[in-house]
Amino acid sequence: MPSTWPERSSVASAVVAAPELQTSPGMRDILPPESARWRRFVEVFASVVEPAGYGHLISPLLEDIGVFQRVGEATDVVTKEMYELVDRGGRHVALRPEQTASACRAFVQHRPLTPWKVWYSGPNFRYEKPQRGRFRQFDQVGLEVLGADDPYLDVEVIALGWELYRRLGLRQVELLVNTLGEPADRSRYSEALREHLVAHRDALSDEGRLTVDRNPLRILDSKRQEDRDVLTGAPDIADFLSTGAADHFDAVQVGLRALGIPTTVSPSLVRGLDYYVRTTFEYQGGTLGSAQSALGGGGRYDGLVEALGGPPTPGVGFALGLDRTLVACDDEGVFGPAVAGLDVFVVDTTGGAEALALTSELRAAGLHADRAFANGAGEQRSMKSQMKQADRSGATVALIVGTDEVAAGTVLIRQLRDGSGQRAVPRPSVIDHLDLAR
Ligand code: HAM
Repeated sequence: MPSTWPERSSVASAVVAAPELQTSPGMRDILPPESARWRRFVEVFASVVEPAGYGHLISPLLEDIGVFQRVGEATDVVTKEMYELVDRGGRHVALRPEQTASACRAFVQHRPLTPWKVWYSGPNFRYEKPQRGRFRQFDQVGLEVLGADDPYLDVEVIALGWELYRRLGLRQVELLVNTLGEPADRSRYSEALREHLVAHRDALSDEGRLTVDRNPLRILDSKRQEDRDVLTGAPDIADFLSTGAADHFDAVQVGLRALGIPTTVSPSLVRGLDYYVRTTFEYQGGTLGSAQSALGGGGRYDGLVEALGGPPTPGVGFALGLDRTLVACDDEGVFGPAVAGLDVFVVDTTGGAEALALTSELRAAGLHADRAFANGAGEQRSMKSQMKQADRSGATVALIVGTDEVAAGTVLIRQLRDGSGQRAVPRPSVIDHLDLAR
């Protein structure tokens, strides 16, 4: 039986039962032609970072749960949002919620030479509340550098993310930077902040009160007004920085200025992952709601490799969300879906064997070619229905083969875009006669 959906217009008013099996909440299919844009995004990213010496790291989607637990006990992504399971071998594993920990685990496992510069792309999983720009399965591109703590490396990393947005054509992106100091600075600051927050506990939001005990730093990026009020008069990270951390941050800002990258210093930028020390940064989009405004972010995580069982090794990197960045692209009307890329559509009313040979020759010559297929035993697609499909395909020309053409050893070439008519050409030299410029 031919499988055909009822025409959309004819079922508009009818009740159509939703299929029983659908994607889970927060997960979705990316269909063609949109999916081509996703692939192009990754290609653009690779074209920005590979010339800067970054190699492609492909790591598993599923890892021992310990890999992600080392990210930190106060990290929601790990404690509240992780997809965990016990596999058939009894191993406790998790779907990766991010890829920095995977890169560090790979570094410890394979011991590459340093500095190790890698980039990656692919899906991550977090059990979050789905909304615009927030999914349970979402894609990132990112990069990590292990084995160098030079502040100009932070600058290189930040600049490469900035360059990606420029290549995509996005204009409404703001770069926020901050420092959380050395680990000791971070703990002293965190303790001072906790004391301030505990002293004003009653004035905090309910969520805020819970956060104080788990990770006081996270209050800094709270959007709730009660918390924001308590934060007025809270201690400032700048007063807790060691000379080394302050100098590092100064050098990062000098480097960003030298590259002409506009930067806003944001002392409240702590970010959601627990492993950051010294530099943190975020690229914020101007068109998404405040909860989803982060298009990407990253920072230094100088202790993570050690936490995963490796030698003391500094690290810096970022990850950028595809889902969100593409929403921002749509909002700004840039980096649109690719147009269908067909050169030729072959129409064959003689049974299909001619189309089989022709499409194969066209493809071997490097052209993008498609054809009509029958659906249903003995069905012969009419000229009219094949031409309709040719028009819909977006191809530049149709090559038409009927019984007359087979008898005469010719093929008809019809320009589809400008309606400039059709002409018969000899079958053997048809490719030489194609005019695909129009
Ligand atoms: P992150 O801030 O958790 O950092 O995620 C980076 C980006 O991934 C976000 O800015 C956002 O665009 C996207 N993203 C995160 N969660 C979701 C979601 N539920 N739905 C859609 N997009 C989302 C990291 O993942 C760190 N590993 C970044 C890093 C690399 N730091 C150092 N190296």
